[in-house]
Amino acid sequence: MTSTILNFGSINIDNVYRVDHFVQPGETLASLSLDIVLGGKGANQSVAIARAGVKVKHIGRACKTDSWVFTQLESCGVDISHVEGVNEPSGHAIIQVDQQGENAIVLHGGANQSFDADDLAKLISKSHAGDYLLAQNECNGLSDMVEMALDAGLKVALNPAPMTAAIRSLPLHRLDTLIVNQGEAQALCDQIEIDDVVSALAESLPQTRVVITLGGDGAILIVGGSVTKVPAFATKVVDTTAAGDTFVGYFLAGLVDGLSDLQALERASEAASLAVQSLGAIPSIPKLEQLNFSNATLPT
Ligand code: RIB
Repeated sequence: MTSTILNFGSINIDNVYRVDHFVQPGETLASLSLDIVLGGKGANQSVAIARAGVKVKHIGRACKTDSWVFTQLESCGVDISHVEGVNEPSGHAIIQVDQQGENAIVLHGGANQSFDADDLAKLISKSHAGDYLLAQNECNGLSDMVEMALDAGLKVALNPAPMTAAIRSLPLHRLDTLIVNQGEAQALCDQIEIDDVVSALAESLPQTRVVITLGGDGAILIVGGSVTKVPAFATKVVDTTAAGDTFVGYFLAGLVDGLSDLQALERASEAASLAVQSLGAIPSIPKLEQLNFSNATLPT
């Protein structure tokens, strides 16, 4: 039976400002444009999974009056039966995107920070051993959710973004999959040089599939002590927002789809390279048919 992916994650309203440069302390800066779009690391990853052709149930919360948020998530192919409308304001993000396509983000958690451990326990009790639980770090209750999912026999995939000190207290050694960027990987093991980071994670998490994304420098896969590096797809960068989320969603969808780790990595890298070519989070996430993905195994 194919695993279901449950994604416990944030839903944000992204206010995306194109700017000449990131605003400096004390400076008032006029933006070049403003787009208001659906985002949030959780929602982005759910949409990436859905656009990769795999079923995903999102567990999340947004303000009940923001009906377009629910409609849009559903129209992207995400099962929203576990997305709750609440009285708290929806989470939102203020995102500056500069001329190089880099971003700087300020978050307001809002409804993403309103979860209750008992409610999460009820949701987990309805899941099946062998299903995937995916999570990021923009919702409260992450530690409870990870522990409950592991105890219920779910495979847990974690993208600990944005990184906080509390992530180090999670049972990372029991995860199925951990996907981190370079900064998150460095913070997890107190190492700076990438070779030292890779050795430290390989040693401390021998049972966990670890992927370190390196932006334009590709990605590193660590499985059972074996390390594989893959290059990035060269591309023109318009906006890097949600490129990492696209990668995470496509990678996990690839695993559920029966791809090998390397094939899933290649598909995720190509999807992320397409995502950086347009502005915004969810609007930039490609559909599977936009990829030229072939099943060729990558060189190690
Ligand atoms: O990863 C990009 C996302 O980070 C944005 O959509 C924003 O909402 C923040 O959560």
